Parts: sequence; structure tokens; C-alpha cells
Amino acid sequence: MAAAVIDGKALAERIQAKLKIEVSEISPKLGRKPGLAVVLVGNNPASQVYVKSKTKKALSCGLEVKDVHLPESVTNEELQRKLKELNLEQSVDGILLQLPLPVGLDEFAALLCIAPEKDVDGLHPMNQGLLLRGEDAFEPCTPKGAMCLIREARTMLGLSDDLSGQSAMVIGRSILVGKPMAQLLLAANCTTTVAHSRTKNLAQEASRADIVIAAIGRAEMVTAEFVKPGAIVVDVGINRRDDGRLVGDVAYQAVSEKAAAITPVPGGVGPMTIAMLLQNTVQSAQRKISKK
Ligand SMILES: NC(=O)c1ccc[n+]([C@@H]2O[C@H](COP(=O)([O-])OP(=O)(O)OC[C@H]3O[C@@H](n4cnc5c(N)ncnc54)[C@H](OP(=O)(O)O)[C@@H]3O)[C@@H](O)[C@H]2O)c1
Repeated sequence: MAAAVIDGKALAERIQAKLKIEVSEISPKLGRKPGLAVVLVGNNPASQVYVKSKTKKALSCGLEVKDVHLPESVTNEELQRKLKELNLEQSVDGILLQLPLPVGLDEFAALLCIAPEKDVDGLHPMNQGLLLRGEDAFEPCTPKGAMCLIREARTMLGLSDDLSGQSAMVIGRSILVGKPMAQLLLAANCTTTVAHSRTKNLAQEASRADIVIAAIGRAEMVTAEFVKPGAIVVDVGINRRDDGRLVGDVAYQAVSEKAAAITPVPGGVGPMTIAMLLQNTVQSAQRKISKK
């Protein structure tokens, strides 16, 4: 039987509809709309598309968006100064620094300048450390969205929300996706394995897992032999084929004949990443109200 398709677009829309209501309830208490600063450096076409999409969704949820577009020629010092200014702006609850930065700019140094309480992308080492400790933290948007998709899949399959004891295989160990993904799965009591480019017998290892997360950046590398019958497969990858087609890291057709549930590309993890960014921003504004 073909796998159930985990519709990330529909789930993201449901989450955004709830956020819109939440925003309308907290705005009067806050005395303003929750604010997201979107910082884009340079003119990378893919980054421009992502920023436009994030801005559009944020506005449709009722957030205030502060667009900060800096030229490619900006220096590390100028970028860092701008981020520190945004930390001090009362109307800004969350700061998104669109990555990757143009060559020559220091991403880690820039991320360190974002106040952890406004780091709605969850990439500041303080938030990553809190996540590692299992404390309350802004969770990075892509892995957080992937967790929602896994839970959605289990609901669709008539399984419980509880992931305890499930074996999970994360393929990829980046600081943006793979590592925080593994932390979230661990926090949900999964027995979690992280694979990478040096892993031996990867297909065999992956084929033991109940949940497979592909975050590799290699078009359709995860074939049917990587997947146990009945597994849940979440495809984080976004790859452009020579013919212009957008594909994930998973060979969708073949894998969907073996898995129980699978995310499509596009329409899976991508929309959920944006929804989680908005959720984190609203959470940041909520925290301010609780402190009032
Ligand atoms: N949908 C979204 O919202 C979203 C968000 C972020 C990223 N993405 C996409 O997700 C993918 C991964 O992103 P990323 O930032 O994590 O990429 P990345 O920083 O390039 O990391 C890729 C990871 O894959 C591993 N890898 C590479 N080749 C491999 C192989 N042959 N076998 C096993 N592991 C291999 C690498 O291992 P080593 O560490 O050993 O090199 C690395 O850990 C990309 O396609 C990206 O565009 C999508």
C-alpha cells in the first residue's frame, strides 16, 4: 500500500490560523503587534524567496515585520552593530538572520550578537545549550517542524502521540538541522542514531529505524533499501535537479511504496519551518506579557 502523505502545507496553515487568533488576543495586552525583524544580507535569489515567503506569512498572521536589507558589502562590524540595535528595540520580539550570509561574513559571530531571548531561529549557542540540557529553549525551526510532522504522521496512522522507545535515524549532523533534530528526538524518548558522510553501511543502519529523517542535501539519495516497511520518513532536503525540478533527499516514489508515511518535497518540511518561526516569535511576545 502506498504511504500516507504527510501534508506539511496543510498542517502549517492550521498552525498559522491558530497563531492568528493568538496574535489578536495578545496584541492588546502587549500594546502592539508581536514583531519579527527579518535581516537579509546581499541578493542571494534563494534567500530573497525565503525572506519574502516568511514576511508574507508573518503579516498574514498579524505580526509586524521589520525588513532589514543590508548590502553585500556590509562589514562584520556593521552587521553585528545592526543586530545589537535590534536587540534593544522594544517592538522587536524575534530576530531572523537569513542564512547563508555572503562569503566573507562570519555567521557564527553574527549569531552570537542576537540576544538569546529574541533568537526565534534557535541558533544561538545559548538556546542550543538549553536544548541539549532539556531546558526550555527556542527550538530551531526546521527540526521543530519535523517533530510536528512525525506526530501528525502518527495521528494519521492511528498511533499514539508518544514516541517513547521508537528508533529514529537522523541522516545529517549539521548544527542547523541534524544535531538539534537528534536532541528533539532524544527529548521525546526515541532511541536516536545520527548518521553522516563517514557512516558505514548507512542503508542497513537506516533500515532498522521506525523514523528516518533525511537532512543531507543530496538529491534522492535515500532509496527504498534505506527504509523499513512501515517506517515514517521525513525529508528535509531541498535539491534542484538540472531540469529545474525540486526534489528532496528521498527517492519519493520508491520509498512511498515501502514507508507508512512520508513528507513530500515541496510541501512537507518547508512550510512547517516558516510556521515554527512564527510560533517562536509569538512565544517570545508571550514571554514578555508573562513578565509584565
Ligand atoms: N525545508 C527546509 O526548511 C530546510 C531547512 C534547512 C535545510 N534544508 C535542506 O536540508 C538539507 C540539509 O541541510 P543542512 O543545512 O543540514 O546541510 P549541511 O550543513 O550540508 O549538512 C549535510 C549533512 O549531510 C551529511 N552527508 C553528506 N553526504 C552524505 C552521505 N553521502 N551520507 C550520509 N550523510 C551525508 C553531512 O555529513 P558530514 O557532517 O560528515 O559532512 C552533513 O552532516 C539541504 O538540502 C538543505 O537545503 C531544508
